[in-house]
Amino acid sequence: MNSSLITVSYLAAAALFILALGGLKTNITARRGNLFGIIGMIIAVLITIIAFVDRNLDLLIVIMAAGGTIGFFLSRRVQMTQMPELVAILHSLVGLAAVLIGFANFLDTSIQFTGVEKTIHAIEIYLGVGIGAMTFTGSVVAYGKLSGMIGGAPMLLPARHWLNLALLIGVLVVAVLFVGEIEHYQATIWLLVMTVLALLFGIHMVAAIGGADMPVVISMLNSYSGWAAAATGFMLSNDLLIVTGALVGSSGAILSYIMCRAMNRSFISVIAGGFGTSGGSSTAGGTSIEGEVQTIDIPAMVELLNGVKEVMVVPGYGMATAQAQHAISDIAKTLIKKGVNVRFGIHPVAGRMPGHMNVLLAEAHVPYDIVFEMDEVNDDFPNIDVTIVVGANDTVNPSAQEDADSPIAGMPVLEVWKGEYTVVLKRSMAAGYAGVDNPLFVKPNTRMLFGDARDSLDALAKAI
Ligand code: TAP
Repeated sequence: MNSSLITVSYLAAAALFILALGGLKTNITARRGNLFGIIGMIIAVLITIIAFVDRNLDLLIVIMAAGGTIGFFLSRRVQMTQMPELVAILHSLVGLAAVLIGFANFLDTSIQFTGVEKTIHAIEIYLGVGIGAMTFTGSVVAYGKLSGMIGGAPMLLPARHWLNLALLIGVLVVAVLFVGEIEHYQATIWLLVMTVLALLFGIHMVAAIGGADMPVVISMLNSYSGWAAAATGFMLSNDLLIVTGALVGSSGAILSYIMCRAMNRSFISVIAGGFGTSGGSSTAGGTSIEGEVQTIDIPAMVELLNGVKEVMVVPGYGMATAQAQHAISDIAKTLIKKGVNVRFGIHPVAGRMPGHMNVLLAEAHVPYDIVFEMDEVNDDFPNIDVTIVVGANDTVNPSAQEDADSPIAGMPVLEVWKGEYTVVLKRSMAAGYAGVDNPLFVKPNTRMLFGDARDSLDALAKAI
C-alpha cells in the first residue's frame, strides 16, 4: 500500500480520536464523540491490516471475529453499575497485549538491530512489557475490588513502602542488565525476571489502595494502559499506536489529576495507599456511631415536601444499584411543576466511575441545567428546605470535615447537613464504599427513609 495513503489514513484516525475525546467533554456531545472514536478505530484497524499483514490473514480474521463477538455480547449484557469493573478488565487486556507483543517482538530474531538502534529497541521492549505487566495485574486486582470479589480494604503490609522501593530498584537494575546483555537467551531471562517484578508491583500497588481512592486508581490504570500501548507503538514503529497510546495515557493522567483534586489528595499519597480504612475509629458496617436515628415514612415525607421552595437531590452509588434515577426524575418534574426549585448536586466521585451519576440522570431525562457540580452548589445548602440523599454515603459524610482522625478527613463532601432537613434513602445503617461510619445519619435534622431507593421513590412519586 502507498505509504502516503497510510500516513493520511493514520492522520485521519488520529484526528478522529482527538475529536472523540473532545466530544466526551459533555453529555450532550458524548454520543457524537463515541461515533468519531468508532470510525477512527475502524480506519486504524483496516488500514493496518491492509498495509502490514502479509501472512496468516485468515487466522487474524478468526481471532478478531472471536474477540469482537465476546466484546459485543459483554457490552450488551453489562449493567450500568458494572461498567467500572468492565473498564478495569479491559485495561488489563491492554496490559496483557503489551506484554505478549513485547515478548513476541523480542523473540522474533528475524529482525536484527545493531548499535544504538539495538539499545533503543531493547528499551522500547522493556518499557512496553514492564508497563503492560503492571497494568495487567493492577487492573485485575482493581476488577476484583470493584466487583466485590476482593474486599475494598487496603492490604497494608508492614514494610510496604520498602517493598515498593525494592521492586522499583529491582526493575531498574534488571533494565541495565537486559539492555547490556548480548546473549539472547540470558536477555530473555532478564526480561522474564522484570516481568515477574512488574506483575508483583501491579498487584501490590492496587491492593494497597483503599476504597475511597479507587476512582484515582481507575483513571491511573487507564493512563498506564495508554503508555503501554504507546511503548508498543515505538516497539513496532507504528505511528498511530504511539499517538493513540499517548492520547489515552495523557488523558488518563489528566483525569487522575482531576480525581486527586476532587479528593483533596496528592497523587503520591494515593500511590502510597491506605486512604479509606486505615486509622480512625470507624468500622465497616456502620455500627460505631452514637446518636438517635430518626426515621421517616412516605406520608411524612409527602408532608415534609409540602410547601417547600428549595429541594436538592444528592445521588450516590445506591441510586445506580437501585436503578432509581427514573423515579427521582419523575419526582423532580412533579415538584418543579409545583413551583419548587429542584437541583441535583453531584459529587465528582459519586458512584463507581467518573460521570456515573450524570450518565444515569441523562438516561432518565433529568434536564442538564438542573444538574450541578459539587462546587457549584455546596455553599447553597443553608438555603435548602429539603435535601434528598439517594443512596449516597461517603460523598455526604460530615466526618471528612469534623473528625481529623477520620480515614476520609480532608476529602471534600457535599454539606447536606447544613440544609433544614435531610432525608437519606438507603437500606440500612451500613457504611459506604470507604467503610467509614457516617454521623450524618444521626444528625437532628436528618431523617432516614430505609428501604430500596427505587421502591421508596416509586411510592413517593405516586404519593405526591
Ligand atoms: P457509597 O459511599 O458507595 O455508598 C452507597 C450507599 O448506597 C451505601 O451506603 C448503601 O447503603 C446504599 N445503597 C446500596 N444499594 C442501595 C439500594 N438498592 N437502595 C438504597 N440504597 C442503596 O456511595 P457514594 O456516596 O456515591 O460514594 C462513592 C464511593 O465510591 C466513594 O468512596 C468513592 O471514592 C468510591 N469510588 C468512586 C469511584 C468513582 S470514579 N466515582 C470509583 C471507585 C470507587 P445500604 O447498603 O445501607 O443500602
